[in-house]
Amino acid sequence: MTAFEKTFAEWLGTARAFAFWKGRVAMYAILKAMGVGEGDEVILPGYTCVMDVNPVKYLGARSVFVDVEPVTYNVDVGLLKAKITPRTKVIVAQHTYGYPCEMDAILAIAEKHGLPVVEDCCLALGSMYKGKLCGTFGVATYWSFQWNKPFTTGIGGMVTTHDADLGERIATLCEAECVRPPTGAALMLSLQRLAYRTTIFPKTTAFATAAFRWLTRKGVVVGSSATCEFVPEMPGDFFMGMSDGQARAGLRQMRRIEKNIAHRRRMRLLYDNLLREAGWPVPAVPDDMNPVLVRYPVRVADKQRAIAEAPRHFVELGTWFECPLHPIETPMALYGYEPGMCPVAEKACREVVNLPTHPRAGAATARRSVQFVQEIGRPGEVS
Ligand SMILES: Cc1ncc(COP(=O)(O)O)c(C=O)c1O
Repeated sequence: MTAFEKTFAEWLGTARAFAFWKGRVAMYAILKAMGVGEGDEVILPGYTCVMDVNPVKYLGARSVFVDVEPVTYNVDVGLLKAKITPRTKVIVAQHTYGYPCEMDAILAIAEKHGLPVVEDCCLALGSMYKGKLCGTFGVATYWSFQWNKPFTTGIGGMVTTHDADLGERIATLCEAECVRPPTGAALMLSLQRLAYRTTIFPKTTAFATAAFRWLTRKGVVVGSSATCEFVPEMPGDFFMGMSDGQARAGLRQMRRIEKNIAHRRRMRLLYDNLLREAGWPVPAVPDDMNPVLVRYPVRVADKQRAIAEAPRHFVELGTWFECPLHPIETPMALYGYEPGMCPVAEKACREVVNLPTHPRAGAATARRSVQFVQEIGRPGEVS
């Protein structure tokens, strides 16, 4: 293991960690090492990122989408059992926004059917369920270190597992098939991290994101997702490891991990209080969940207006998830998603925006953000 992998595995309290170019690559490595292939089914929430669905498709398997529940946006466990068929190979427990899934119920269903649970902790670094860290429940977990994630290595991902046999299979797979990142891309990513550290703050994010997307389309910078990743065919260089520069950045972030987590916890409570004071509903999270939110989700009356107006108010407004297989450009039918399959998720896609909780956002940002969403109004309210 590299120093970053070792430090991350120790922090989580697990046996092995494998770093990759992106989180989606980490997911692919787990599924492939588990033998997921042609004709198999993988259960996912119908409120996710298409990059989380691509690896299933790349392996020739089919994603089966389960609707979510409206407070934590995690899979509705009451609907899960009915989605299991003899072809089901894996259940993915995605801890959405950082809210822990109901792991006891999910693990009980999985055990009854002899199925493994893989956790998606891309949005949930430090979240706890019944006093245990998310990422320690399933047979394996994948993590993301993309720009908007709990901490960033530019782009980046990680697999963790306590399962010796699966760990060996992932190691063998990496040795046989994983390619090294091209030097040019790794260097460009280092420059991008430098630009990120020096120019991205809550008030500048909207403008920087627009510029970044434009540069990505022009092929100038290393984008979070290339155009070829919006169709379900695996790019030739997809299965790529982590560069040394990403790993060094990850190691630096690990030194601040507890501070980062504590800050996000404080920000959640601050948003709860500000919204409560404004008479808005605040998510009633069960006592046995201790979430660390990557972003604070909130429902608004007019999401499109909020997205359009946020930059002018210098508000760092997130749009996850704009459709059940985010983002909106996704040709969802190619992935087996038909409109109406997950109505609760679809409503959330129309209503939910999210606010920053990261260490660069403090109390003033939270107040400005809450004031802004109040101006937009909440669903059912004429603003
Ligand atoms: C829930 C979830 N899982 C996985 C991923 C994929 O992570 P990455 O962008 O590092 O490939 C994303 C991407 O945003 C995501 O939102």
